[in-house]
Formats: sequence, C-alpha cells, structure tokens
Amino acid sequence: MWSVRMRAQKEGKHVSGAERLIKEDLHKVILELSKRPKEFDKMVITLERVERVEIVERALPIYSYDFRDIASAHGFAIKKLTECGIKEELALKAIELLRKGPNPKGGNMRGAVLMDIESGERLEEDQERGIRTVRVDWEDRKDIQRRLRNRGIRPYYLYRLMDALAIATKNVYCGVIAELCWSDDPTYTTGYVAGKDIGYVRIKPMKEGSSPIGGRVYFVRREDVQRIKRCLEETALLIKGL
Ligand code: COA
Ligand code: AMP
Repeated sequence: MWSVRMRAQKEGKHVSGAERLIKEDLHKVILELSKRPKEFDKMVITLERVERVEIVERALPIYSYDFRDIASAHGFAIKKLTECGIKEELALKAIELLRKGPNPKGGNMRGAVLMDIESGERLEEDQERGIRTVRVDWEDRKDIQRRLRNRGIRPYYLYRLMDALAIATKNVYCGVIAELCWSDDPTYTTGYVAGKDIGYVRIKPMKEGSSPIGGRVYFVRREDVQRIKRCLEETALLIKGL
C-alpha cells in the first residue's frame, strides 16, 4: 500500500494536513489532497510505500452532546475522562492546558501533549512539537461517509469527524488511555474526549467561537510511552467500519 500525506503552509504557518493509505488511484488521491487547502504558499506531498498494514474492525462508537455553555461542556468532559480512570485534577489540568494554549512559548503545538496518568507530568520530548498520530485511514471512505450522513452528521462536520475519529481510534489501538481534544480553528467549537471504555464522545461547545487556540492531550502510562510513540508515528492502520 501507499501512505500519501499532504501538508500545506502559509507564511511559515501550517494551514492544512491530510493523509490516505491506499492500494490504487494514486494520482487521483494526490489531486484530491492537493485541492484541500484553500490558501497556501508551500505544499509538500509525500508518497511512501508501506509494507505492513494493521487492521481494526471498528472505529470507536460515536456519541454527541450539546451544552448551553463551555463550563457545563468542560464539566461533562471531566466526568467522562474520570470514567477512563483519569484523576479529576489531571482532567482539569488538561482542560486548562488547552484553554491557555499547550505550547510553552504560547499558542498551539504541532502535535499532542503526552500526559502521565499518575503524575500529570508532560512526557513529550519537545513541548512545542508534541506527538502526531499518522499513517491511519479508513478502508472505504465513501462507505463511511454515506453511513455517517445516514446517521444525521451534517456536511460541515463530516470530514473533520472522519479525520478525528480515525486519529482517536488509532490512539486507543496504540495504548492511549484517554484523549481530550478541541480544534485550533476559530470557527469550530466541537471537541471530544475518547477512550476504550467511553468511545468517541463529541462535546459542544468546548471553547469560545473566536478562539484560535486548541490542542490534544493523550493520557498515557509512563512505562508505555516509547511503545505508544512508535505505534502512533509508524504503524500503518486501516479502519474497516463503524
Ligand atoms: N500541525 C502543525 N504542523 C505540522 C503538522 C500539523 N498537524 N503536520 C506537519 N507539520 C509541519 C511541522 O512543521 C513538521 O515539522 P515537525 O515534525 O518538526 O513538527 C513538518 O510539517 C513536517 O511534518 P511531517 O510529520 O514530516 O509531515 P508528514 O508529511 O508526515 O504529514 C500530516 C503529516 C500532515 C499528514 C499530519 O500531521 C496530519 O495533519 N494529519 C491529520 C490528517 C488526518 O486527519 N488523518 C486522519 C486520516 S483519516
Ligand atoms: P485540529 O483538530 O486539526 O484543529 O488540531 C488540533 C490540535 O491537535 C493542533 O493544534 C495540534 O496541536 C494537534 N494535532 C494536529 N494534528 C495532529 C495529529 N495528527 N496528531 C496529534 N495531534 C495533532
């Protein structure tokens, strides 16, 4: 199979990223990914042969909750994280981290925070970069799109949901105990918490409508960090169904 990855930037700032794991239609997919960013001054497309691909039968189950305000949404996210075994104080710490911006130099990171579920210590080697979940895709994207539409997911949410659900599913597969996420896109206030026992729980609103700050926190066991990092970055994973 091929791993096809696209990233685009404008004035030195990352503006778009997308990837596919495919057997055929290489040229069609390159064209499709190249059309994804609206504005950019540099785009990099990487094609890489992948020898071994792991399979997951089902993505995490999806649940959706809407709240009146951010405080109630955060309260619910903390409750769900504690159902995964995360201490309440660390769930709160993760929310505060994303609220302020997880990059110690201010603003967003280029990947996720790795947080020790025991001590709350950050375990990423580089706190401006973090860890990225890559080499993950759906076996049949068209089928997944159709099934999500049939479940009432509106077009505005569809592609983001597909991408984020794929990432969250791979994270659990790799041994991440729980995840907290909201986007850095100012127009997108739906975030999620995810974990093996709670599934993929969409929660709105996780931030103010105008905020350009977001991020991901992966809760992990310290002793598993090296194995999890290798899995998140290197293992190619295809997800079969919902
Ligand atoms: N955010 C910010 N910067 C990013 C970035 C991101 N998501 N992805 C790449 N970059 C920039 C960084 O400067 C990075 O340098 P760094 O490693 O020092 O941070 C540089 O580009 C090179 O990154 P690299 O990891 O080599 O890129 P890649 O070619 O492997 O592509 C992406 C990775 C873009 C595909 C991945 O980061 C991404 O965005 N994935 C999300 C796609 C998705 O939703 N997947 C689910 C599919 S169903
Ligand atoms: P997004 O949902 O794309 O707005 O991303 C929100 C945040 O998640 C970004 O600010 C990054 O810190 C982080 N992030 C983006 N892509 C990845 C990835 N592939 N894996 C892990 N973290 C990511």
